[in-house]
Amino acid sequence: MGKCYPTVSEEYKVAVEKCRRKLRGFIAEKNCAPLMLRLAWHSAGTYDVKTKTGGPFGTMRQKLEQSHAANNGLDVAVRLLEPFKEQFPIISYGDLYQLAGVVAVEITGGPDVPFHPGRPDKDEPPQEGRLPNATLGNDHLRNVFVKTMGLSDKDIVTLSGGHTLGRAHKERSGFEGPWTSNPLIFDNSYFKELLTGEKEGLLQLPTDKSLLEDPVFRPLVDKYACDEDAFFADYAESHMKLSELGFAEA
Ligand code: HEM
Repeated sequence: MGKCYPTVSEEYKVAVEKCRRKLRGFIAEKNCAPLMLRLAWHSAGTYDVKTKTGGPFGTMRQKLEQSHAANNGLDVAVRLLEPFKEQFPIISYGDLYQLAGVVAVEITGGPDVPFHPGRPDKDEPPQEGRLPNATLGNDHLRNVFVKTMGLSDKDIVTLSGGHTLGRAHKERSGFEGPWTSNPLIFDNSYFKELLTGEKEGLLQLPTDKSLLEDPVFRPLVDKYACDEDAFFADYAESHMKLSELGFAEA
């Protein structure tokens, strides 16, 4: 199932490569890889396959979408990336936010996620309420990821591994703390900790824990906990799919 990516100009490609280099240094210096990954995910994860609305098309640049409850704190990420938009005005916001997510994974030791440029920017923000609610369980995760976004059961597990980076902030989500003891390193420790069970100082959301109780999800959690290469390969594929929802349909 090959996708038909749009052709972008040579000038656009050069700008993307320069911007990617600058983002590597910037995100490392600011230690903001987790926030950039969350920005990329919350931008793309609003896609609705039925109405073809939402998705990674730069709408998060607008205050209205930043003010959705699930996006608390992402105004900071948008602000941090604004100088890159000024330096590389040719690059769409949609591409810039997804490029930042790909770079965040790369520079923290994660897999290389393929990046294809050419997302157009849209104006219409997604409806509020499409992103997952951390207090619910597997039926809800399937509703959001499979029914609405058009991803798969496997994508739910691999992408949950994104919580290998970063932490929750009480003032943003009501939850507090990191999922792993090395929240600036992208590895498979999220799955190891999930199998170990609750631990002082580390967080497991109800949605994280519910992965353990599902006959499809659980074997993948087990596999990724003992095989980091398998996690990295599957994660890279799922992250690319997420970053291209609604983009370049075949
Ligand atoms: C499966 C459903 C998911 C739920 C319910 C969920 C929920 C949350 C919550 C409540 C936070 C804390 C926000 C804060 O207080 O700052 C968070 C943070 C985060 N999430 Fe998720 N998430 C989900 C999936 C994902 C996915 C698919 C990714 C990326 C592939 C991701 C990446 C992150 C990252 C990197 C952070 C840390 C942000 C920071 O350190 O500032 N999450 N998530």
